[in-house]
Amino acid sequence: MITLTTIADLRRQVRGWRADGKRIALVPTMGNLHAGHLTLVRRARELADRVVVSIFVNPLQFGAGEDFEGYPRTMEQDAAALVAAGADLLFSPSVTEVYSKPQEQQTRVEVPGISDILCGASRPGHFVGVATVVCKLFNMVQPDLALFGDKDYQQLLVIRSMVQDLCIPVEIVGVLTVRDENGLALSSRNGYLTAAERKQAPELRRIMLKTAVAIESGSRDYTGLEEKAKLELEKAGFNPDYYTIRSAVDLSEPTDKMSDLVVLVAAYLGKARLIDNLQAHSPPG
Ligand code: PAF
Repeated sequence: MITLTTIADLRRQVRGWRADGKRIALVPTMGNLHAGHLTLVRRARELADRVVVSIFVNPLQFGAGEDFEGYPRTMEQDAAALVAAGADLLFSPSVTEVYSKPQEQQTRVEVPGISDILCGASRPGHFVGVATVVCKLFNMVQPDLALFGDKDYQQLLVIRSMVQDLCIPVEIVGVLTVRDENGLALSSRNGYLTAAERKQAPELRRIMLKTAVAIESGSRDYTGLEEKAKLELEKAGFNPDYYTIRSAVDLSEPTDKMSDLVVLVAAYLGKARLIDNLQAHSPPG
């Protein structure tokens, strides 16, 4: 695996591959790789001739008081895992390589509407940071396709919107969430959980499954289902940020006529802010 840290070297390498007619995939990450990331890399391997993985803890997507400084950085382990998963190139630029100007002078990419709700409402500016860095990475690598986990459902929709609105010629591939044996979605932030919280964490998924079963059995009392689930979460030791049922297409509020729905949750368990989602189909009324 080649490891590069500058945009100039990255472009030179990718240009060579493109001249040889290779199809190039990008897997953008912030490192601290787990089995979920490695599934993206392996899927990329199946879909493309060359796989580029970026590791960049993006300061622009962290708000004041969030965990930018403390975000786990495990470059050596990550590089070894990427070699084993079959990545061809690891791109790990410095903050100044990606952002040559002070943050307040940096050009930004904003996807209005979908960026302002749910995680965007709780973390103002977060999705501007995500869209900006992903757009920059797309311009640096110019991949044919890019892969993202379904766990960050809202992020995936923000990126799909950005690509469509800005006519960016990159195919976006969403990949199913990888879970541990108890159903907890894998996330770098699971590392913040204590041993006791790890045992509590799978309750999140269990409560979501109950909501999904109710939807699929024909319940359309979405507000009632949300309220019940929030109470259950609190009883299980979580501090819910949001628990909501939305359109799976655009995250708008559900109507009785919609069939493709998604249950989305963000909840604190101790220091960890866990997010997860589950799609559910409402039967015709
Ligand atoms: O999902 C992530 O890890 C990040 O938000 C991403 C897409 C790599 C952008 O920094």
